[in-house]
Amino acid sequence: MRIFLAPMEGVVDHTMRDMLTRVGGIDRCITEFVRITDHKLPPRVFYRYCPELINGGRTTSGTPVYIQLLGGKPQAMASNARQAAALGAPGIDINFGCPAKQVNRSDGGSVLLKEPQRLFDIVSAVRIAVPDNIPVTAKIRLGFEDRSLLTDITQAIFAAGSNELTIHARTKADGYKPPAYWDAIADIQTNSPIPIIANGEIWTPQDAQNCLQQSGCDDIMLGRGLLARPDLARQISGEQRQQTTASMLWSDVLVLLQQFCVVTEQEYEPKYVGNRVKQWLGYLRQHYPMAAVLFEQIKRLKTPEDIAEVITAQRLNKCDQAVA
Ligand SMILES: Cc1cc2nc3c(=O)[nH]c(=O)nc-3n(C[C@H](O)[C@H](O)[C@H](O)COP(=O)(O)O)c2cc1C
Repeated sequence: MRIFLAPMEGVVDHTMRDMLTRVGGIDRCITEFVRITDHKLPPRVFYRYCPELINGGRTTSGTPVYIQLLGGKPQAMASNARQAAALGAPGIDINFGCPAKQVNRSDGGSVLLKEPQRLFDIVSAVRIAVPDNIPVTAKIRLGFEDRSLLTDITQAIFAAGSNELTIHARTKADGYKPPAYWDAIADIQTNSPIPIIANGEIWTPQDAQNCLQQSGCDDIMLGRGLLARPDLARQISGEQRQQTTASMLWSDVLVLLQQFCVVTEQEYEPKYVGNRVKQWLGYLRQHYPMAAVLFEQIKRLKTPEDIAEVITAQRLNKCDQAVA
């Protein structure tokens, strides 16, 4: 079984990939989508989305990072995929799942699910453009308005030579509203010539079990669940091997947050550090009640130094409590 970290625009950048892969249990990451219009983008764009390219396309912990492309023009997608592969991307993923209106209006993301022939044209152009040893993968939803085209969509992607397919088990119309329909993947999985990766609403090891069972898949992708609970992949893979792994305590998460402040400050202007920490706390508080307390403590702070100081104080406070 493999576990992948989901691409999440504006959230899972290389600093977050670094943090989460340090915790472990993640077999692959995917960048935020790189928007492709008509022309070939310069290398600096790919380095911006995927600074891991300077490290052989791997995070500091050695996890491969595929570059995700989003666009509707087969030739432009192909030339950019070739460019990304030449720069050292270990794989290329194609986004056919993005529900954003702006993206769909400009002919990219989930709107393409309405036209299986275009999915075929895009995936096959990318597959031909990229060397055989570099996997090309696709990520879809169950459909746009409904699931009526799901078989046509998946057949088009298989026929085009995609090496793997991730299915976010909801339609575009479902948005992000729970539940995810893992069982809707089962028929596709049974008849698929390539690995299918199930995605959507996996927040706990039990959810992972249910998803694997209902979808019949061997592999899963985790997004928000991993942000809420950074050791979720480690826990799930531990359970698969029937090993009990200690859960990450809030004090461990505080260490991670301190590291996150440091790496974020190296990469972004100081004024953005606070926003990124607050954004992560927004996810973490779904699993750790103390994240909500920390959020309240830092919400008006602006400088990375002030924020780091409060995080350190919470850590020391916890240690004092433990000692007492
Ligand atoms: C804030 C946010 C940004 C996302 N950005 C992307 C993206 O760039 N590319 C993509 O394929 N999916 C994107 N997704 C979808 C996720 O990869 C994933 O399919 C979805 O969140 C369901 O998985 P989860 O329930 O484990 O979070 C995004 C989701 C969220 C919430």
